[in-house]
Amino acid sequence: MSQKVVINTDIKKGTINKNIYGHFAEHLGRCIYEGFWVGEDSSMDHTNGIRNDVVAALKNLNIPVLRWPGGCFADEYHWKDGVGPRENRKRMVNTHWGGVVENNHFGTHEFMMLCEMLETEPYICGNVGSGTVQEMSEWIEYMTFDGESPMANWRQENGREKSWDLKYFGVGNENWGCGGNMRPEFYADLYRQYQTYVRNYGENKLYKIAGGANVDDFNWTETLMREASWLMDGLSLHYYTIPGDFFKGKGSALDTSEKEWYITMQKALHMDELITKHSTIMDKYDPEKRVGLIIDEWGTWFDVEPGTNPGFLYQQNTIRDSLVAGLHFHIFHKHSERVQMANIAQTVNVLQAMILTEGEKMILTPTYHVFEMFKVHQDAVKVDIDVSSHSYELNGEEIPAVSVSASTKNNQIHISFCHLDDKQSTSIKMDVRGLGKELGEVTGRILTADHKNAHNTFENPEHVTPVAYDDFTVNDHQIELRLPPMSVGVLTIG
Ligand code: AHR
Repeated sequence: MSQKVVINTDIKKGTINKNIYGHFAEHLGRCIYEGFWVGEDSSMDHTNGIRNDVVAALKNLNIPVLRWPGGCFADEYHWKDGVGPRENRKRMVNTHWGGVVENNHFGTHEFMMLCEMLETEPYICGNVGSGTVQEMSEWIEYMTFDGESPMANWRQENGREKSWDLKYFGVGNENWGCGGNMRPEFYADLYRQYQTYVRNYGENKLYKIAGGANVDDFNWTETLMREASWLMDGLSLHYYTIPGDFFKGKGSALDTSEKEWYITMQKALHMDELITKHSTIMDKYDPEKRVGLIIDEWGTWFDVEPGTNPGFLYQQNTIRDSLVAGLHFHIFHKHSERVQMANIAQTVNVLQAMILTEGEKMILTPTYHVFEMFKVHQDAVKVDIDVSSHSYELNGEEIPAVSVSASTKNNQIHISFCHLDDKQSTSIKMDVRGLGKELGEVTGRILTADHKNAHNTFENPEHVTPVAYDDFTVNDHQIELRLPPMSVGVLTIG
């Protein structure tokens, strides 16, 4: 069956904020420790304690922004425990994630160094749940004040002369749950109080992000916007794609039934409805769309790999994850006027990771490859698109079988596509209008697999990897693509 896509390259729809390709790294399982930080005494290849292989791989994604230190960990984190000589830093219990010892060896200085190595913007999440107003205020002073003050002096004693540039700051995380089990009215008042002391020092101008809703808690968004919208730059939203039940069994990452495949796609597509509904509420209080909707946690969440610590949230990553990622990007593009940032959970070894490590070994996941192929959309201009897709059906339910998005940058057009059906191949007729000239050279890359559980392992690290794609014909201004089942890719025109 064929589907029709019309792309009006001369109708521009605004810029796709590169920050929707953002990341999230929490003190959880083996994300920070082992994933990034191996310590200065490690025999592994590192720079000042940070793994060089992981940094090199991530640099290839042009990561625009990295959120840290949590997540639930953020509302238990006391930043002063993580500065100064490492041997003196407090050893504490990571109560949220596995009850393991947190030795605080990776703290503010190490995180800022990582961001410098990745050439990425830091996004720091502060502690509202168990921290004080003073503590949050002093963290900002420590990081961003360049004059003489107790915190700036302490930073200098700890080896950093100049203040850091810090733009993105979150005032708490999931304060409806692990961040304090608050009611929205109570958190809105705390947000107003805490953010007052989150100061702009010198030229440093903070973009303040209020802790937002869980999934479809529209009352949370309504309350926060009503009570505090003029005091925030962004409001967050968290939504994970979970094929099963969060408490009774989320489903296996590797052993996917036909039904679970379908439900995963259906639930990934649900992000569109959630953004539409939260945005509609935001529009009421902020019709100019000044306040960004910040999807600072998204991605698949499956049962942990058998035999691993349940508190470490380690899961494998298959071709299914790559389609979830592609669909999310297309949804974020669609809502780019409101969605100013998104951060996949999480970068290394946790949930829908880009990278998995085992000792010195490292593999790139199918999700990594989608971030890499789709990076052409970062800060590109979205162009108008109309997609008529046939349905992908299962047990009397249906969702669109294909999703397509297009943008233009540097005189090139990039068209990304996702084909969700796990069994049937399909074809798409693309009508590329408004170029004022013939199409010229069209090239493509695709990520696909012959099995819905296909993934990369330490023994076979390139089993799922992008390949050149040329199964299409170009005729005048039309491109006809033949797509295998379970495929995601990008065409480049020009
Ligand atoms: O990403 C894992 C956890 O999911 C985060 O710590 C928390 O914010 C969310 O519930």
